[in-house]
Parts: sequence; C-alpha cells; structure tokens
Amino acid sequence: MNIKQLLSDIVSKAMIDAGLPEGTNPAVSQSTKPQFGDYQANGVMGAAKKLKTNPRELATKVVDALSLELVDSGIAEKIELAGPGFINIHLSKQWLSQQLGQASSDEKLGVSQREQPLNVVVDYSAPNLAKEMHVGHLRSTIIGDAVVRALEFRGDKVIRQNHMGDWGTQFGMLLAHLSDKLEANEVAETALADLENFYREAKIRFDEEEGFADRAREYVVRLQGGDADCLKLWQQFIDISIHHSEEIYNKLNVTLTREDIMGESAYNPDLPVVIDELMAKNIAVEDQGAKVVFIEEMANKEGEPSVFIVQKSGGGYLYATTDLSACRYRSNDLKADRIIIFTDARQALHFKQVEIVARKAGFLPDSVIYDHCPFGMMMGDDGKPFKTRTGGTIKLADLLDEAVTRATDLIKDKNPEMPAQQLDEVARKVGIGAVKFADLSKNRTSDYIFNWKTMLSFEGATAPYLQYAYSRIQSIFTKAGINQNQLPTQASIEAPQEKALALKLLQLEEVLDAVISEGTPNLLCNYLYELASSYMSFYEACPILKDGIDEQTKLSRLALCQSIANTLNKGLDILGIEVMERM
Ligand code: ARG
Repeated sequence: MNIKQLLSDIVSKAMIDAGLPEGTNPAVSQSTKPQFGDYQANGVMGAAKKLKTNPRELATKVVDALSLELVDSGIAEKIELAGPGFINIHLSKQWLSQQLGQASSDEKLGVSQREQPLNVVVDYSAPNLAKEMHVGHLRSTIIGDAVVRALEFRGDKVIRQNHMGDWGTQFGMLLAHLSDKLEANEVAETALADLENFYREAKIRFDEEEGFADRAREYVVRLQGGDADCLKLWQQFIDISIHHSEEIYNKLNVTLTREDIMGESAYNPDLPVVIDELMAKNIAVEDQGAKVVFIEEMANKEGEPSVFIVQKSGGGYLYATTDLSACRYRSNDLKADRIIIFTDARQALHFKQVEIVARKAGFLPDSVIYDHCPFGMMMGDDGKPFKTRTGGTIKLADLLDEAVTRATDLIKDKNPEMPAQQLDEVARKVGIGAVKFADLSKNRTSDYIFNWKTMLSFEGATAPYLQYAYSRIQSIFTKAGINQNQLPTQASIEAPQEKALALKLLQLEEVLDAVISEGTPNLLCNYLYELASSYMSFYEACPILKDGIDEQTKLSRLALCQSIANTLNKGLDILGIEVMERM
C-alpha cells in the first residue's frame, strides 16, 4: 500500500477532469501539520502559473472532481481548499482501518511486491584484507546491508558484491614476513591472530631491515606472475583475514557471506583486456609511459581535463582499472539494472571518473544506473576522526565488544534480577543495535560524532528506545493474557492518536521506497522513531487494560498494538537490529 501513489493517481485524474493537460504533476506529499490534512496536493499552483489562469478557480474545479473520487468512495473524509490553491486531503478513519486490517494480515505488512523486480548489484563493506577491519568499514557495511534488506523486502533481486581489497603491492611485505614466520615454525593462524600487529611488524621491517624491501618487491612480482607457492601463501593469508571479517559480520548481524566476495584479485585476468580496449577505442592514451584517460567532461576552471590513470608506467594496474573491469562484469555477467556502491565520500571523484570512462568504453550501458552513495566520517567527541586514546585506529571488533559490555552494565542496572543467559542476549542485541542505529540514523553524507552515552540512552532516537517500545507492547499482551489469533482482524480507528498511528503504519512502503531510491536508511530510522513516539502518545491517551474499558475497545486497541509491534520488528530487522520480548 502506497497512499501517496494512490492519491497521486487520483489527483492526476481529477486534474484532467478539471481541464488540465495530461502529465501535470499533482505534487502530492505527506502533510507536515495535522491542520493541513493527511496529504496535500499542491500541483495546481504550478499548473495555473503555466496556463496563466487563476489558481484558486482551477483548484476549486479539481476539488470538485476529487470529492467525487475520494469522498464518495470513502477514502477521504473531506477535501479542503486552502490558501492560493493548496488542496488538503483528510483521509477517512474507516478507510484507514480497512487498509490497516489488510496490511496486518499480510506477512509483508501491506508493502506491495515489485511487479518487475530489478537486478540490483550492491557493493558494500569491502574491507582491505591486509589489515583488520576498522571503524571506517562499519559505515559501509551496515548502511549497505540495510539498503540490501530494504530492496529485498520490496521484492527486488539483490546481488551482494563484497569488493574486498585482497590485492596490491602491500601484500609483498606481508607475504615476505609471513613466509619468515612459517619458516620459524609458527602457525599461520597464530601469526595472523592480530592482523594490525602483523601489518605493523611487516611495515617496520620494510622500512628498516636491510634487504627486506627488496624481498617484498620480489614477492609482488611473483604474486602477479602467478607463482604457485606464492599464491598458496597469499591464499592462506586471505583466508585467515576473511575469517576475521566474518566474525565481525556475525557480531553485527550483517547478511554478507563468503559467496558474496568478489575481491579485487578476481578481476586480475581481465585488466590487460580492459586496457587493450581502452587503447583500441582511443579512450586511453600513452602519457609518459603510463596509460591515461584525459576526461574533458570533468575539466577544471582552467579547462584542463581530469586525469585518470589506468595503468602505471611500470605496467602495474590500479584500483581504477579494477573498478572499470567491475563495471563490465556487473553489467554483462550479473545483468545489473542498477549498481549501488557504498564508500566514504573521499572516493567520490574516483567513482565519477570510473562512470564516465566506463560509459564511454561501453562497459556500462546507459540503461544501467550507477549510484555511488558516499558517506561522511565517524568522529570522536573532540570532533576529530575517531581514534584510540593513543591515536591508533580503533578496531571494529574492540568497539563492538565495548558496546556489549556497556549494554550489560546498563541492563543489569535497570533489571538486576535478569537471569545471566537472558542478560547476555539482551545486552548483545542492545549494544550492537545501539551502535548500528546511531550510525544509520544520521544523514549519511555528513560526518557524525560517536558518543556512547547518547546511543545507549533509552530516550530519543536510539535503538534501546525502539527495542523498549517493542518489548513494552509484548508485556501488554502478556498482562492481557491474550494471543494474536484472538484479536479482531481490523482495529477500529476513533481517537486522533489512533488515526495518527494507522496513517503512520500505512506509510511504511513510502519510506522504504525513499530508502531504496536514495540509499538512505536514516529515513527508516526516523520513521520508526516517529512510530514509537506516536505509540507512546496513543498509550497515554487510549488506555488498554484499565478497568472500565469495554472488551471490544480493548481488543481493538490490542490489534493496533499488534500492528505497531510487527512494524517495529520488521523495520528494525531491515536495519539489521534485533528485538526482544523482555528487557
Ligand atoms: N576496499 C575499498 C576501501 O576500503 C572499498 C572498495 C569499494 N568498492 C569498489 N568497487 N571500489 O576503501
């Protein structure tokens, strides 16, 4: 159910009936204030301006036509004309109640399924395997995963692509260091238990130890040349590093699996082909030994084209070359209709260049949408990039452990009697949920400040607040001693708080569509927060289990509670956040 779409269709038709040309934008949107109705249609003013007629007169005609369609059919209670030509639509409580009844009996909560599913390739997480995952990869991982889940919920077909950084010159020093450790009879798993340390050790040797840098470079040559022993060593390294990432994915409740990995190395065989094609099509040219594309479309103020190197002078390939190859693979082999890539904003220029060159070369047909969704940085309380006290990068694994520890203290404090096993589960869900929600709820393009206290608060837009709202509803059911199948299929909508809730519940599809088209899970976070807040106002105004409440009203209100709980549960699940019956 998409009310906005339904109303847009009806208003469009009414506009034609009122004499406006076909295709006039009805400009339907959710109203910002209750006195403006539930939805507004503001398209008349623009249309009147174009036709140079009186907007109010025109709007009156549209309202007349609309009344027939909306009021007589029972969808709306009334249609009002306001100001110079705003049309305010007040939906009928009865109609909302019917729609909600239908939505609640549907496992997709009334969110319609895409008739023609798109093939969407989503490139997210993509850590560099030379090092341990750090907080910078948190954002890509969880924002990407939320968008993936929203797409799937709506019925699109998602192909996850974890474009892991598993190739490149830094592997030379890592492999040289690893081979020494194995020679000294160390086990690979032990040597690589702390990747951060391992990287540091290798780097120190590379900078300081005589002959080591040369050996590291030899390893790079051997690796690129496909030397079997070297590849075996590399594979061992990669496997262990992937295992570290998988532990994080598990902790984070992220849907990525090994099958989704399509690392940089996988494109290796195709890179010379990419270069040959770019040269044959005269898109890339030789420049001081390197192969370069001069992108005129992105010229600076002085008219100098943007420079995009696709092969280094020594013959080495780059991150850019791999991404061009990825464009082709995703369009041709994966048959993508749309490609979405989540990385930090510093890579925006890179992806703009990739897109232009890939389109020119025919690696990316015009029919394929290419969306780079950039995000800002995670900052510490001091407003500087988030680091450990000593200035090191914060390991994601440590951060998540700390979240769970803090949540344990918090829950223990609130509920000292909770059995240990339950405490573990609740603390895990609350701690991880808090970190995820804090991140997901921010407008992704801006930097944001990481703050334990606000994210773990039970007030405001936080995971604990929403999880608590969910578990409160569950406890009402327990208290009422009633289970789902005793509830009426349709709640009756009477009080303004009930109407506000019904409307909100029926707007889930509108929110999900915005999340999907813009790659912005924060809209779903806002929605869920508003839903939980509307529930709190409803709970204050409309008692459920109080003495004197008649049975019918009680059951109707419980049915509404059930819809809210289902929507909170599903909505949080799309964000990858778990709920619990009690907390
Ligand atoms: N590994 C890269 C990084 O850590 C992100 C890769 C994103 N995807 C891509 N197709 N380039 O920054």
